[in-house]
Amino acid sequence: MKKAVYPGTFDPVTFGHIDVIRRSANIVDELVIGVLVNNQKTPLFTPEERVEMLKSVTKDIPNVTIVAFNGLLIDFAKSQNANFVIRGLRAVTDFEYELQMAQTNRIIDPDVDTIFLTTSLEYAYLSSSTVREVASFRGDISKFVPEHIARLVEQKINQMK
Ligand code: PNS
Repeated sequence: MKKAVYPGTFDPVTFGHIDVIRRSANIVDELVIGVLVNNQKTPLFTPEERVEMLKSVTKDIPNVTIVAFNGLLIDFAKSQNANFVIRGLRAVTDFEYELQMAQTNRIIDPDVDTIFLTTSLEYAYLSSSTVREVASFRGDISKFVPEHIARLVEQKINQMK
């Protein structure tokens, strides 16, 4: 059985993430989306909120589960009995960091391989930080995230101001 983890911060989940999730769920038997809790960044949304958002956007995909995790990605992959880590690659700017992370993880545990999916072209520019930035200036984020996620981002930004 092929099982993969797709880790990230998902602050918030975007159409780019959803594209990678759908395509990976077609490749593996089971996909576990890992939501990083102890991030060096200070996320807009709590881990619980990010998990809930991911559950809502993946509810029609039967082989996907969502789990929050702390610590090393490779330990999380092991705890899930996953053989693969999935990462999306948008542009060459992602490459250096992703290569370093994949190689480090492979040194730590050679049994877990990283699979890169190139992001669909229509989402190649898109990141959660762009979404937060546009939303913070009251810009329209409806082209970047599903409608109900856009409302949640707007609410969160309003609460903070
Ligand atoms: O959505 P992001 O911020 O690009 O995701 C980054 C993530 C969560 C995949 C990465 O920061 C991570 O795996 N963090 C856990 C700690 C770890 O294992 N780091 C990699 C060792 S090189």
